[in-house]
Amino acid sequence: MKVLIDREALATRIAAMGATLSERFRGEEIVAIVVLRGAMFFAADLLRAMPEVDVRIRTLRAASYAGTRRAGPVRLMHGTVDDVQGRHVLILEDILDSGHTAAFLRDLVGRHDPRSVTVAALLDKPSRREVDEQADLVGFAIDDHFVVGFGLDLDQRFRHLDHIAIVEDGDT
Ligand code: IMP
Ligand code: MG
Repeated sequence: MKVLIDREALATRIAAMGATLSERFRGEEIVAIVVLRGAMFFAADLLRAMPEVDVRIRTLRAASYAGTRRAGPVRLMHGTVDDVQGRHVLILEDILDSGHTAAFLRDLVGRHDPRSVTVAALLDKPSRREVDEQADLVGFAIDDHFVVGFGLDLDQRFRHLDHIAIVEDGDT
């Protein structure tokens, strides 16, 4: 598979995102919501790049995909958001594609009276958007390719790659 973003570029960009968020939330309490499973490596690196922030980690799992195709509405498969009231919430996503997942989670969290909601996504495919949703902080905007690695999967495979790769016909 063709490498789109290598491990050095990921490390550099995620460190910079951590610095931006540290600046914004220094000395504050935040609840970081890691959207499983795709955001786990991104979240691990990003949150460790913001030691001056008082972080609590939660996990949620939302799903709507089968293979490379959407399989219906976004559903919450695991997790709750009952302790975000009055707190800054940082939602960590692997990628914004149609935008449905981020919009769903922003709405879900927003209904629990958080102090603020920030969405940070490692990747963004703006050309695929179906709803009016933008992440507040994006690692890399990419063209319309199906990508895997660094948490992102194709039918649960390739999440453990240390880089982002493009899946093309014949790769799998
Ligand atoms: P959205 O709800 O369409 O924005 O999709 C978000 C979810 O779709 C992500 O959290 C991923 O799990 C999955 N997804 C979208 N594009 C890709 C891709 O290129 N590779 C792997 N997963 C993707
Ligand atoms: Mg997936």
